[in-house]
Amino acid sequence: MLSKSYEDELFRRLYLLGSEETDGLIDEFCMRCHAPIGVYLKEIPPADGSKLSDIAKRGISCDFCHTVSGYKKIGNGNFELSPGMIKRGPFEDSNSPGHKTAYSELHTKSEFCGICHNLYHPTNNIPLELTYTEWKESPYAEEGIPCQDCHMRQNPGIPATGITKRPDYPGIAGAGGGKRPHLYTHYFVGANTIPQIQIDETYRQLAIERLRAAATLEIIRPTNPTPDTENTIKINITNAGAGHYLPTGLTELRQMWLYVKITDSSGKTIYESGALDNEENIDKTSTIYQSIFADKNGNPTEKVWKIESLISDNRIPPKKSATEEHSFNIPATATLPLNVETVLKYRSAPQHLVDELFGKGKVTPLVVDMVTEKSQIK
Ligand code: HEC
Ligand code: HEC
Ligand code: HEC
Ligand code: HEC
Repeated sequence: MLSKSYEDELFRRLYLLGSEETDGLIDEFCMRCHAPIGVYLKEIPPADGSKLSDIAKRGISCDFCHTVSGYKKIGNGNFELSPGMIKRGPFEDSNSPGHKTAYSELHTKSEFCGICHNLYHPTNNIPLELTYTEWKESPYAEEGIPCQDCHMRQNPGIPATGITKRPDYPGIAGAGGGKRPHLYTHYFVGANTIPQIQIDETYRQLAIERLRAAATLEIIRPTNPTPDTENTIKINITNAGAGHYLPTGLTELRQMWLYVKITDSSGKTIYESGALDNEENIDKTSTIYQSIFADKNGNPTEKVWKIESLISDNRIPPKKSATEEHSFNIPATATLPLNVETVLKYRSAPQHLVDELFGKGKVTPLVVDMVTEKSQIK
């Protein structure tokens, strides 16, 4: 996703809409993180990118990250760059035939990622994305596990989360370097799976593997199930694997929710919640874990430039749980045992917004089944 931070169609379409609606006010701001070299070279405006050099269009590239030499403050893309022949990285003794090198402690720390992974509204300062702060206040920060220890240890088959192994990969990074105890992988996979944007299937699979190692579910059954009365089932959702809130990042768009289905022994559905309707909207009765922001009239909006206040944020902090209660009636005709199926689901954006940006029905964000848990009520 870093290499696509400028070309990413979901980003570009939302950005161009925002640019149009604000007469270009947001252009430089958005591009600070999405095309940082372009902003550094003063190639923005115009918003449409017609003045952007090829290197700027490559988004957050090797040379960009390994040229960062500091930051003014965490968040809003306030990096300091020192372009030139010196490339900065985590080794004190590297010796490259291609360029000079310098040791950078910053590259080994979450603060490096926090330069862009904390986002405040540029005029009213409302926090919009706080992945870095969420991590900083988590047990992972206390234990000294930075972003790099999860996101730069992932390899196919090894999602490297809080509940999986995060192994070392010893090796030689390049000619002129000695054998290193660990080479940090550069997949930088989060949760993004929208096929039209993230075209490479390898990355989509890596994102799915990561999502499947992010949470756990626990079903607490009713103790005395009784026909013809209201029975309640509880489900605990635990953020067991993410080093920040679940979900994190662009959480006015990201959606996580629980699908619950209870059937009797003949397969007849007696309760269902969290299904998608035929226009891909999530059933209105289900809880969506996300942040909801309001515009100046107090109406919910997903358009960051219109945000004036926070309405609600029910996301799950690292190593913490949320509990849902679902009440249902067991009809007298139902045959026991009842089968309970719960599935935690995630998608990168709601259908109605994708429809607005791409045209109705043109793109369908993939719904990923993160965790499935089953139980029986006897
Ligand atoms: C988002 C920023 C970012 C981008 C983009 C990026 N790197 Fe890195 N790179 C890092 C960080 C951070 C580390 C050090 C991680 C640590 O030590 O904790 C690193 C480590 C390295 C190392 C040291 C060996 C290793 O893997 O640990 C090399 C070599 C390297 N990067 C080369 C590259 C190349 C080549 C590209 C482009 C294909 C690239 N980087 C793109 C951030 C980036
Ligand atoms: C303990 C492991 C762990 C640590 C530490 C960690 N992450 Fe994550 N990250 C995950 C997992 C698991 C997911 C997938 C579930 C999710 O979306 O939260 C994820 C997802 C993400 C996403 C994608 C969110 C989305 O829905 O689009 C971003 C961006 C991200 N992480 C950035 C960071 C940054 C920046 C840091 C450091 C400040 C960090 N992560 C630290 C495990 C970790
Ligand atoms: C120059 C700003 C910048 C820096 C520095 C940066 N990122 Fe990002 N990162 C972005 C942007 C912008 C995106 C979103 C690209 C898109 O989706 O269009 C992104 C996307 C990601 C994603 C994919 C999220 C998803 O939805 O799947 C992960 C994971 C991630 N970054 C981790 C990191 C980590 C770890 C570091 C530090 C080693 C880091 N980033 C440093 C700006 C940055
Ligand atoms: C401080 C850095 C920063 C700035 C400024 C910024 N973004 Fe981002 N943007 C990110 C990061 C980091 C991500 C990835 C977070 C995640 O995956 O949840 C991201 C992801 C996105 C995505 C999701 C892309 C996808 O494929 O899912 C969209 C859309 C987006 N940004 C739009 C904008 C717009 C529009 C602006 C200007 C109003 C903007 N961004 C300004 C850092 C920034």
